[in-house]
Amino acid sequence: MFGAPKSEQFNDVYFSEQDGLAESRHVFLQGNNLPEGWMGKDEFVIAETGFGTGLNFLAAWKCFRENADAGQKLHFISFEKYPLDGEEILANLYHWSDEFKGYLEPMVEAYPMLVPGFHRVELGDGVLLTLIFDDVNEAMPQVDAKVDAWFLDGFKPSSNPEMWSEVLFQNMARLSKEGARFATFTAAGAVRRGLAEQGFIVEKVQGFGRKRDMSVGFFKATPKPEPEKGTQ
Ligand SMILES: C[S@@+](CC[C@H](N)C(=O)[O-])C[C@H]1O[C@@H](n2cnc3c(N)ncnc32)[C@H](O)[C@@H]1O
Repeated sequence: MFGAPKSEQFNDVYFSEQDGLAESRHVFLQGNNLPEGWMGKDEFVIAETGFGTGLNFLAAWKCFRENADAGQKLHFISFEKYPLDGEEILANLYHWSDEFKGYLEPMVEAYPMLVPGFHRVELGDGVLLTLIFDDVNEAMPQVDAKVDAWFLDGFKPSSNPEMWSEVLFQNMARLSKEGARFATFTAAGAVRRGLAEQGFIVEKVQGFGRKRDMSVGFFKATPKPEPEKGTQ
């Protein structure tokens, strides 16, 4: 057990106090069937709500580099309303400096200035990080992408209900490829219903550590009704 950074504003932690990295791998990688999910795909697109310290991104990047075939590309898009600066990220992830040797420092070196808007961060070896410093509900409607997997982080819905909005779920459906997966640490009813209403098949599975459950699933687009013949 070690400390985890906490947001006083949201009265919630950035990641598990038990083991944030193990939690990230359980919830977001396994929850999205990664690394199997990107096998055979030239490019794989992940979108995340709440970049925070970048721990989820680092876990995904390392997993990708260790498992992807030569030439495969990863595009990781992450929204962050209250970005930390590079020094805060280094301090918060210090515990994993060895684990992320060759990842953490390059990420922090390439990390953009804390200016609102879209930032393109090229990390080499076919890995692109797009950081969007804005409220996800403001910025996601402006995004054009074809997403394979969603990392729904962000503080818990009871502390941060504004983030888990209908706009978010509608835009997830708009940007999802058929069969796109999502994973989130929460099993809150409002989140599960919101996703289901937009065409996601939602399943409750075992959570990380002391958390009893979390949610995973995939997008199943409903076919658009054929226009009636003979009418203008
Ligand atoms: C639990 S932390 C995320 C942890 C992060 N994934 C990591 O690996 O460190 C939640 C993050 O969501 C961000 N956030 C909260 N509400 C948001 C919103 N409406 N739009 C964008 N980001 C938001 C917070 O600032 C915080 O960094």
